[in-house]
Amino acid sequence: MSSAESLIKEWDGEQVIIRHDRPSGAWIFVAIHSTRLGPAAGGTRMKSYPDVQAAFLDALRLSEGMTLKFAASEMPYGGAKAVIAVPSDLDRQSRASLLQRYGTLVKQLGGLFRTGPDVGTTPADMDVIATTGAPYILSRTSEAGGAGDPGPFTARGVFIGIKLLCERLFGQQSVHGRTVLVQGAGDVGGSLIGFLRDAGADVLFSEVNGDLVCEFRDKLGLRYVAPESVYSTECDIFSPCALGAVLNADTIPLLKCLAVAGSANNQLERQEDAESLRSRGILYAPDYVINAGGAIAIFGLELEGWTRDRAGSEVVAIIRRNLDQIFRSATAEGISTEIAARRIAEQRLHVHAKLL
Ligand code: PHE
Repeated sequence: MSSAESLIKEWDGEQVIIRHDRPSGAWIFVAIHSTRLGPAAGGTRMKSYPDVQAAFLDALRLSEGMTLKFAASEMPYGGAKAVIAVPSDLDRQSRASLLQRYGTLVKQLGGLFRTGPDVGTTPADMDVIATTGAPYILSRTSEAGGAGDPGPFTARGVFIGIKLLCERLFGQQSVHGRTVLVQGAGDVGGSLIGFLRDAGADVLFSEVNGDLVCEFRDKLGLRYVAPESVYSTECDIFSPCALGAVLNADTIPLLKCLAVAGSANNQLERQEDAESLRSRGILYAPDYVINAGGAIAIFGLELEGWTRDRAGSEVVAIIRRNLDQIFRSATAEGISTEIAARRIAEQRLHVHAKLL
């Protein structure tokens, strides 16, 4: 059996739409994981991958994360994700026309899939995709009538999560004087750094993009940690805000932190890695719970008619409620926080299945 076949067989989602975009050489995967709680939705990730199979697997795994994210947040949407695997030398014009063809594909899906920004795409890209993909494109720029960048809402949710971790670890929510190491100073990480600095945390950061290193180290004076020492640097809280699979059998033994709480999707390489964190006494805030702020806010603003104030307070309330429940049941039942979070999400999915 080919590996694509076995990947699909092992995946418990509903369907995958695959397109090879000849003009650009890109591959497009739209993975519809679940429509049980409502129309499937998730971001559009656009980047280069080592091979097509890696892109395919990323779409499958990320789409499941979106199902869990919406279920845990009690939002009436199903989980999906689009991955556009692009050649590394794609020029601006080819990129824009690829986005338009992608919009046509989303439009053809007729509401099966709604999307917004993710790694490698921005609200300005959503404007381009929406020229052909409307009305299924969220998070367009405010100039184009959209709710704009989800990043600050995601960062706000992660910040609240970090405060709750501080409460569990130190008895008070304040981050003042606590050392937080943020891996990735992009859209969400950069915004999170702002919240942490304003609250008096001692922020360290790691980043691979030279312009961002210059901005945060040289202009703001933050302590920079080289990527090769990010896992072994001592800190109170390690906050992965870049790519996935950073918590694995190689990195977990190196960690010198008390807790992990960040915005990246799929931080654990395997589910068992949650158990390794637990046995090392490192408290882990499950990624799809703590990073749900962007999705909660944008879907609330654009599809549920929320004001920006309401979106902000919903993000805080939902993430606080979920993390409290997860930490409590993980301690009471002696299970990892990852398993505790899954139980909450799955229970909501099952309760709904019974009502159908
Ligand atoms: N990329 C966001 C996430 O992973 C999902 C999102 C989709 C956010 C649509 C805003 C709009 O949670």
